[in-house]
Order: sequence, then structure tokens, then C-alpha cells
Amino acid sequence: MEHLLWVDDIEKIYGGRRNVSRALAGVSFGVDKGEFVGIMGPSGSGKTTLLNCISAIDTVTTGHVYINGTDVAQIKPEHLARFRREQLGLVFQEFGLIDSLTAYENIALTLTINQINYKELRVLVAQVADALEISDILDKYPGELSGGQKQRVAAARAIVTQPALVLADEPTGALDSRAARRMLESFANMNKRLHATILMVTHDAFAASYCSRVLFLRDGEIFTEIRRGNLVRSAFFKKVLDVVSLLGGDTENAG
Ligand SMILES: Nc1ncnc2c1ncn2[C@@H]1O[C@H](COP(=O)(O)OP(=O)(O)OP(=O)(O)O)[C@@H](O)[C@H]1O
Ligand SMILES: [Mg+2]
Repeated sequence: MEHLLWVDDIEKIYGGRRNVSRALAGVSFGVDKGEFVGIMGPSGSGKTTLLNCISAIDTVTTGHVYINGTDVAQIKPEHLARFRREQLGLVFQEFGLIDSLTAYENIALTLTINQINYKELRVLVAQVADALEISDILDKYPGELSGGQKQRVAAARAIVTQPALVLADEPTGALDSRAARRMLESFANMNKRLHATILMVTHDAFAASYCSRVLFLRDGEIFTEIRRGNLVRSAFFKKVLDVVSLLGGDTENAG
């Protein structure tokens, strides 16, 4: 079977002659439809760079990224917005909410652009809002929300379209442990019930323990990968922690 996402030997070099930084140094992996894959690694190991290259926010120096068989570097600039809107759900650190729209309108925006009918739209927004416990703040503007609430609105906006691939960079970073758990459970549910394919960067071994597979980056390379297999989440959590300590320990949170 063809991978939904295929990262083929990508390299990303920042800077000019004097201060060259090799953020990604030859990374290859595939993600199949329905997988929930975590990416861990120390600060500066290339995690955000990897997500930016996959979503074509940044360009690779060498190598290729294929999503559903399409080489993202070959997508014409004028088609990129549409490609992202239809194929990807992005949950990134800087939220990207529109300040002049309410939380509800932010979440519904892509559905509106994709011309989903009004009745269906209301149901879809209500479902994700319920899952992420933001139903009572839907009428507020981003300026009136806390960091954690904004993070959940941004997550709701990314997943409400049921995209082929969800890319999340530290989606639980601004959340307390209860809200983080809700977010992770809604990701896991989306993965299980809707067969959503998710790639999630996290520092947190507890968050990573929700994944079916975790890739570990170090110095721009994949250091190792572990699979959950039939392990219960708590046992997989211990396995993740073992690799983290092998890598030099970088978790913020022991859940
Ligand atoms: N725009 C840029 N210009 C130059 N160097 C960059 C740029 N963006 C990232 N880098 C460098 O690339 C490397 C990887 O950065 P990246 O942001 O991908 O790390 P990360 O794994 O996401 O770290 P963190 O956990 O702190 O978010 C770092 O050494 C960083 O300094
Ligand atoms: Mg980062």
C-alpha cells in the first residue's frame, strides 16, 4: 500500500556560508492511513522544521515529501492554500486564529469556504467543541481567551474538516493536565473512529503514549522508533520514558 505521507530523505539547511545549520540531516519515514504517530526529540532537534517541510510552509533543501502521492514541492503556490485546506489540519504553536472572528466562526471558517451546508456545519462544530470542552466559549473572540482555550479552538478548527492528515506541534503545550488529557483523548478518538491520520510533535512522554508509534529525532536525524503494538497505554508510557532517558532526558511532564 502506498503511504499517506512519505518523507523521502529530506535535508533542510538554514543559513549561508558562515553559519550553516543542518536542521534536518536526511530523514525518511512513511505514515500509513489511520496511524497516530508521535515525534519526540530534544529542543532544536528539527521537529518543527520537519512539520513545516511536510506542510510546505518551508521548503526542503534536498529530498521529497509526498502526501497522497503528491510531491508537495511541486504544488503551484496558487494551489497551496487549497491543498492545505482540503488535505491538512494544522495545529501549530502560534494558533493562527483570526482576531476579528469568534471562536465559532474561526472553527467554521474552513467549512464555509469548502461550502458545507449550514445545518451540517453546526453539527460538526458542536461535536468538536463538545469533545474539546469549549462549547461555552464559542461566542468569544480570541482576545478574550486564555492560551489553553485558544489552543483548543485552534485544534477544533484543524480537525473539524476531517482532513486526510493532521499535523500538530505541541498541541498540549499550553494546557493543564486535565485539558491535555481531553485533547489527547479527542485525537485518539478521531484516529480510532474517523481513521484520521495524525502526526504529533511533543516533548511530553505522557502525550506520546497515546500514539501508535513514536519517532525520536536527534540532531536532525531519526535516532530510533518504537511501536505501541498491544501494550496498554501505561506500559507504552514507560517504554517512551526509557527512550527519552536514553536520549538524554527532555520531558517536562511525567504523567
Ligand atoms: N528560520 C531558521 N533559520 C535558521 N535556523 C533555524 C531556523 N529555524 C530553525 N532553525 C534551526 O534549526 C534547528 C531545528 O529547529 P527546530 O525549530 O526544528 O527545532 P525543534 O525540534 O522544533 O525544537 P523545540 O523543541 O525547541 O521547538 C535548530 O538548530 C534551529 O536553531
Ligand atoms: Mg519546535
